[in-house]
Amino acid sequence: MTQSSAPNDSRPIGFFDSGLGGLTVLRRVRELHPAESWIYLGDTARLPYGTKSPDTIRRYSLANILKLQSLGVKAVVVACNSASSTLDSLHLEQLSVPVYNVIDPGAEAALVASETRRIGVLGTRATVQSKAYVRALHRRDPNVLVYQQAAPLLVPLVEEGWEEDPVTNLIIYRYVQPLLAAQIDTLIMGCTHYPALAPGIQRAVGLDIRLVDSAEAIGHQLEKDFQTLRLQRSALQSPQLRLFATDASPQMDATAQRLMKDANLPSFEGIDIELVPAQHELLKGSK
Ligand code: DGL
Repeated sequence: MTQSSAPNDSRPIGFFDSGLGGLTVLRRVRELHPAESWIYLGDTARLPYGTKSPDTIRRYSLANILKLQSLGVKAVVVACNSASSTLDSLHLEQLSVPVYNVIDPGAEAALVASETRRIGVLGTRATVQSKAYVRALHRRDPNVLVYQQAAPLLVPLVEEGWEEDPVTNLIIYRYVQPLLAAQIDTLIMGCTHYPALAPGIQRAVGLDIRLVDSAEAIGHQLEKDFQTLRLQRSALQSPQLRLFATDASPQMDATAQRLMKDANLPSFEGIDIELVPAQHELLKGSK
């Protein structure tokens, strides 16, 4: 809700993901903040990130953040978990806009949800190997037990539109078995694509296990920052949405409509993003 006396800032909020999965995050965050304008950037030319090395992912991430900043956003949300897991190695404090990752709010939401302090994380190989969720959880509660499981087959199944396919359900079941054996009570869906699989994941783990969706968590984080005026709300009557992709393919608009559950989306616009040099000043330890 916008207070008339509060300062406002109608610049859009930038979002980026390695591809289109981040639209599941944008969908939820847009529902929570309907007056805001958004610029979504899907780095489809370089998808997937989840199988790449941390150095490569952090260079892609920095390039995307700088591109969104150059488009005039007031904040950047890194919707991609694999990208978020590399942000500790960037000098984000030197940027003129705040950058949000999905890992810290996801960890916080998991700690609120968990009673037994046994938390599972499902993510890409890059996210799991980075241990970013483990660190984020232990920073807040050193006693929490964290069990991680990489689930690399799930991203392509969602890209294929097989969210409800029996094959997908079998694969989910197989991935969550070790987490069930570890007796978790909360499961972080640590990848942009997994909210699209939430019904299947919930069926596989059972109703006693709470699923944490980082989209919900990042939406609440933005709300907190609007309230403290770290960010200012938009006062636009007709908020805008622009969708950019580094590689446009014919079915992309249909996939976006499916993931956003919105048939009135604008078409994707192409965009070029140059790779930042390995010695870029915002990459920690590059000198
Ligand atoms: N967006 C990625 C993530 O959330 C999943 C897709 C990819 O591997 O690039 O980790």
